[in-house]
Amino acid sequence: MANYFITGTNRGLGLEFVSQLAKRGETVFATCRNLENASQLTALANDNKNVRLIEMDVADNVSREQGLKGIEGEVIDVVINNAGIYGPRNSNFGGLKGDDWSNVLQTNVIAPLLLTQLIIDRVRISAIKKLIFLTSKMGSIEDNQGGGAYIYRSSKSALNAAVKSLSIDLKSQGFTAAMLHPGWVRTDMGGPNGLIDTKTSVQGMVSVIDNLTDEQSGQFLNYDGQVIPW
Ligand SMILES: NC(=O)c1ccc[n+]([C@@H]2O[C@H](COP(=O)([O-])OP(=O)(O)OC[C@H]3O[C@@H](n4cnc5c(N)ncnc54)[C@H](OP(=O)(O)O)[C@@H]3O)[C@@H](O)[C@H]2O)c1
Repeated sequence: MANYFITGTNRGLGLEFVSQLAKRGETVFATCRNLENASQLTALANDNKNVRLIEMDVADNVSREQGLKGIEGEVIDVVINNAGIYGPRNSNFGGLKGDDWSNVLQTNVIAPLLLTQLIIDRVRISAIKKLIFLTSKMGSIEDNQGGGAYIYRSSKSALNAAVKSLSIDLKSQGFTAAMLHPGWVRTDMGGPNGLIDTKTSVQGMVSVIDNLTDEQSGQFLNYDGQVIPW
């Protein structure tokens, strides 16, 4: 059994990660930015002693540092940087706003890297050392046939660029870093027309994480394990 640290777990894919991993007996440090808005997560933690809740706004420096006090002395085997935002849906050329863009970059790019930087010594002492980042196929430049979505697309492309560097820099220290696309999933972000449910997506991603090899470090992978073009 391993120790998982997961961000943004009060709903959507994060909540499903906690549910599936807790069910098979893993210890899960489940973070969310406001425990008062986390009734399903709190219920999961009440039913599973191996789910430990941590309040953390990933985009806030102080909150990240305070949240990590909750894992002092713990070994973290797998970090899943899941928390993310889409930003305004109408971010078309002509109506782009710098503040909206900065906000999305803070949450989707800067926060996961700074959090990983803060937590890395807890992971270094693990034999497993897996760093997982939830990205999106919308960040694939090659796959972009539809245009638009400037803010979200560019945030996930930037995340991929940063994680690629991280995978190279930390490879000799035994870390495996991978970028996972969850599929188009029916969550608040994915909307009701998504192609798959959270259960299918997370089952796939957990299997990819379980089977991730050193050779796959730095890869951009679909929830079914297929490599996605940059
Ligand atoms: N759903 C899809 O089709 C899809 C496709 C590709 C990639 N993804 C990626 O998968 C990840 C999860 O997406 P989802 O569909 O589960 O989205 P979701 O249903 O909108 O949930 C997003 C989660 O992230 C949390 N979050 C956002 N900003 C945060 C912050 N500053 N601090 C802490 N938590 C924060 C939210 O917490 P609050 O409740 O506090 O807002 C929520 O728990 C994201 O990185 C997303 O970009 C999703």
